[in-house]
Amino acid sequence: TYIIAEPCVDVLDRACVEECPVDCIYEGGRALYIQPDECVDCGACEPVCPVEAIFYEDDVPDEWEPYVSANVDFFVDLGSPGGASKVGKTDYDPPFVKNLPPMGE
Ligand code: F3S
Ligand code: F3S
Repeated sequence: TYIIAEPCVDVLDRACVEECPVDCIYEGGRALYIQPDECVDCGACEPVCPVEAIFYEDDVPDEWEPYVSANVDFFVDLGSPGGASKVGKTDYDPPFVKNLPPMGE
């Protein structure tokens, strides 16, 4: 799967959402999250993020490794809805992201 890491927090550009052919990028309160079971590893999202927040799971920089878990944790209650557009924006963030200091530009 691909992972969305720290540069997305409080930026939420959403360019990635338009590119994903399986609509598996879900919107939380402070960042977006990729559903790991729904992502087909097409990689289309990665180059379009203006802040380079998206990485293949094996290429996540060490400092952002907690985001691998955060992308999984986002879906503990949500499960695999099979499409982000029908879920829409949520207010939820996993605790790790929720408790970060304000980020972004
Ligand atoms: Fe975030 Fe980049 Fe997508 S900022 S919403 S990962 S385009
Ligand atoms: Fe979608 Fe990106 Fe995966 S475009 S299928 S989330 S690699």
